[in-house]
Amino acid sequence: MIGRLNHVALAVRDIKKASDLYRKSLGAEVSAAVPQPAHGVTTVFITLPNTKIELLEPLGDNSPIAKFLEKNADGGMHHVCYEVDDIIAARDRLKAEGARVLGDGEPKIGAHGKPVLFLHPKDFFGTLVELEQA
Ligand code: CO
Repeated sequence: MIGRLNHVALAVRDIKKASDLYRKSLGAEVSAAVPQPAHGVTTVFITLPNTKIELLEPLGDNSPIAKFLEKNADGGMHHVCYEVDDIIAARDRLKAEGARVLGDGEPKIGAHGKPVLFLHPKDFFGTLVELEQA
């Protein structure tokens, strides 16, 4: 069921500094920063040969990553995103096996314009998991 690793997301306090580091020091291909008010974050995507890195900076008062940055003052790994062919089938299978889907359980349109869901980190050994329709 599980497909490619679409991206690893890193929460950062300063997305400009983080983008510069990846561009200049690591020589990576780094996108422009895109505010995503519906998701409470600003995102940057870094394209690597085999996957992407998503940088997340809090946006607005109710950012879903604000608490994470309170606990992890320097930032850190926030989630991993796996591709699935059929997000509804994947969700229903995981729910049947006891995994908890965050929010109202319905896919939302994510930063790539594709349906995504998040799975509770307690059900995945402490890692927040995003599923994205491939
Ligand atoms: Co993501």
